[in-house]
Amino acid sequence: MSHQFKRVLLKISGEVLMGKNEFGIDPDTVARVANDIKEVVEAGVQVCVVVGAGNIFRGVSGASSGMDRTTADHMGMLGIVINALCLQNALEQMGVDTRVQSGIRMDEICEPYIRRRAMRHMDKGRVVIFAAGTGNPYFTSDTAAALRASEMNCDLIAKGTKVDGVYTDDPLKNPDAKKYDCVSYIDVLTKDLRVMDATAISLARENHIPIMVFSIREKGNFKKVIAGEGAFTIVQSKNLIKGDE
Ligand code: GTP
Repeated sequence: MSHQFKRVLLKISGEVLMGKNEFGIDPDTVARVANDIKEVVEAGVQVCVVVGAGNIFRGVSGASSGMDRTTADHMGMLGIVINALCLQNALEQMGVDTRVQSGIRMDEICEPYIRRRAMRHMDKGRVVIFAAGTGNPYFTSDTAAALRASEMNCDLIAKGTKVDGVYTDDPLKNPDAKKYDCVSYIDVLTKDLRVMDATAISLARENHIPIMVFSIREKGNFKKVIAGEGAFTIVQSKNLIKGDE
């Protein structure tokens, strides 16, 4: 895979930003991720970012502990805004131009989400960070990532996670688990491979946007995988396991 991507949406979970801590934001980790983004921008790729809020508040967990789901999701979306502002700050300290656009209006803090404006920002080399998910409860930040990637005509969703790709089974529990080079959207859904939730996968599939799953824990990995190097799995229309012809 040595395709030159024009516009990429990077999805990072909130948990990534907490580094080794159990919750909250680890400034060193945020700086490392920001530097990874900077490298990709400097390589001439337009980048937009969707971040989660699991390091601050998770709507689903709030709901399962008895909270009203909509309220819990609103809290999660506000958590995303905190993460987005933190990432914006780290990027701007490194000299990368950014704009935060929120799916829920909070004009004193950031721009509202305006599709055409977001595209103009990216054309000018700015990193657009989409905050507050889709702006609606009951939708995950993965779904927000697939939605914004579709709206922005991105040619890739880069999903930065803790693992270096998608396996046939949990590699920590099953030594026979094999890593996919490519796995189909349908297999991700039917085999419940937990790359992203079903709504996100379906949206990416319908809009023909491949999803690249890679580890964001290693410094410099984002640029590497975008260039087709290093370890990752691509979710697209076909399956391919390493070693298979
Ligand atoms: P250009 O049109 O390319 O110049 O983009 P720009 O974003 O620099 O233009 P604009 O003059 O609209 O914005 C200047 C600054 O104000 C940027 O940092 C924007 O992020 C910020 N800004 C623009 N609109 C809003 C808003 O509704 N709320 C907040 N909080 N900031 C805004």
